Amino acid sequence: MSNTLSIETAQTIGFKRHLKQRLGSLVALASPSRTRRLFDAPVSHPESFRDKAIMAYLKRRAIALNQQQFFERLHAEFWSGDGGAVFSQNCDHRFEDVFLAKQQIDFEQLKRVWNEIRPDHIVEFGCCSGLVLNYLTQHLPNVKSATGIEINAQQVSRNQASNDFDPRVSFACADGADWLLEHGQAKTLFVSNGGVLEYFRRARLDQMLSHLTDRLEQTAFFAVEPVAQDHDWAQTNASIPFGDELSFSHNYQDLFESNGFEVVHLRHMKFDQWRMMAIIAVSRPTRQ
Ligand SMILES: C[S@@+](CC[C@H](N)C(=O)[O-])C[C@H]1O[C@@H](n2cnc3c(N)ncnc32)[C@H](O)[C@@H]1O
Repeated sequence: MSNTLSIETAQTIGFKRHLKQRLGSLVALASPSRTRRLFDAPVSHPESFRDKAIMAYLKRRAIALNQQQFFERLHAEFWSGDGGAVFSQNCDHRFEDVFLAKQQIDFEQLKRVWNEIRPDHIVEFGCCSGLVLNYLTQHLPNVKSATGIEINAQQVSRNQASNDFDPRVSFACADGADWLLEHGQAKTLFVSNGGVLEYFRRARLDQMLSHLTDRLEQTAFFAVEPVAQDHDWAQTNASIPFGDELSFSHNYQDLFESNGFEVVHLRHMKFDQWRMMAIIAVSRPTRQ
């Protein structure tokens, strides 16, 4: 049986989880104000028994009621805290093992698109330790500036203190969507690599991408994102929590096309438990 992460992984509840959630619903009933607090400001690593039980209940309820904002808040809490601070230590090897070893086909396509639309800037959302951003800056021609947007303040401080980056590369600590709406500019290649858009709810991604097509000229997007293996894009455009993290499996083809982009490259590959999609989309505004 395949162990690739799926929607089913997120929705199947074993006996233990079932019990935890039943208990959680009772604890939530007994602690309504704490439950409201945790719904508004969820915690990824609850410490007390009470919070663990309530969080189990809230996650299950959010899946059932499609409460995407709850999951987005939960992911932001995880990534801006210790989870985000240690990610690079454990996962920087993916730059060599995945990006360099398995994605050269995608990079060749990206170079072709870059040469066609000739952006000046690169902006990477969720850049973490900046390895991909630095590589793109040095391997695409005539990059004027490259900005890594990262929600984890500790990671951004480490990047800013490092001398390992090309002088055109800089970093900012911000939520990707907030930053884009305030600072995004024309002639930019936007990048998300190794799973970043999966932490944004669909409405927010729609807002980001329509901002690009409505307001900014000459933009393109290079996204490498995981999708649930049982997410059939021919059947649904819904964004559905999947796997153990309960991040979103989006229909990326629909996401880009419905926001005025043309998808010019789409390829999937397997990496560990993930079905990864590499997408290159070019903004094709309808207005002239
Ligand atoms: C799965 S990691 C991928 C990191 C890196 N791109 C790579 O390929 O190794 C997700 C990254 O996105 C960042 N992130 C998550 N949510 C974010 C948000 N709302 N805005 C900006 N960065 C975010 C995390 O802190 C983390 O560095």
